Amino acid sequence: MDHLPTNNPNSLKQLSEMDLLNDLSQPYHGVKTWFRAARVQDFPENGGACVRYKDLQIAVFNFTRRNEWYACQNLCPHKMQMVLSRGMIGSHQGEPKIACPFHKKTFSLKTGECLNAEECTIMVYPVRIEDGYVHIGLTG
Ligand code: FES
Repeated sequence: MDHLPTNNPNSLKQLSEMDLLNDLSQPYHGVKTWFRAARVQDFPENGGACVRYKDLQIAVFNFTRRNEWYACQNLCPHKMQMVLSRGMIGSHQGEPKIACPFHKKTFSLKTGECLNAEECTIMVYPVRIEDGYVHIGLTG
């Protein structure tokens, strides 16, 4: 049996919506839990703060200049320091980034990729603002 009907426009629409849900580039892919971290006003404008979820430390950034929010692991993989929430946010060729306050290793806040060294990537998490609270999407 053919599972990919091509002559029914409704089936095509359903397929494309399903493809969208399974698209790894979608920011909410794989999220199982939305962790309510704190109130919006608990985060400094154009700065970060650290929140805890179980054993995780998560750096959350209120990137007011871009009108965007980001979250990543607080642990800098360079010297294994819990410091990224105290780093400086900025942009690199349009890409939002965080620079570690210790030795300035810089990571994309969209992909977690290290932008100025061969360091490993960091975990990044989707952020959703709802009812005045910051929610962080977690896969576990
Ligand atoms: S500890 Fe972060 S760059 Fe060195």
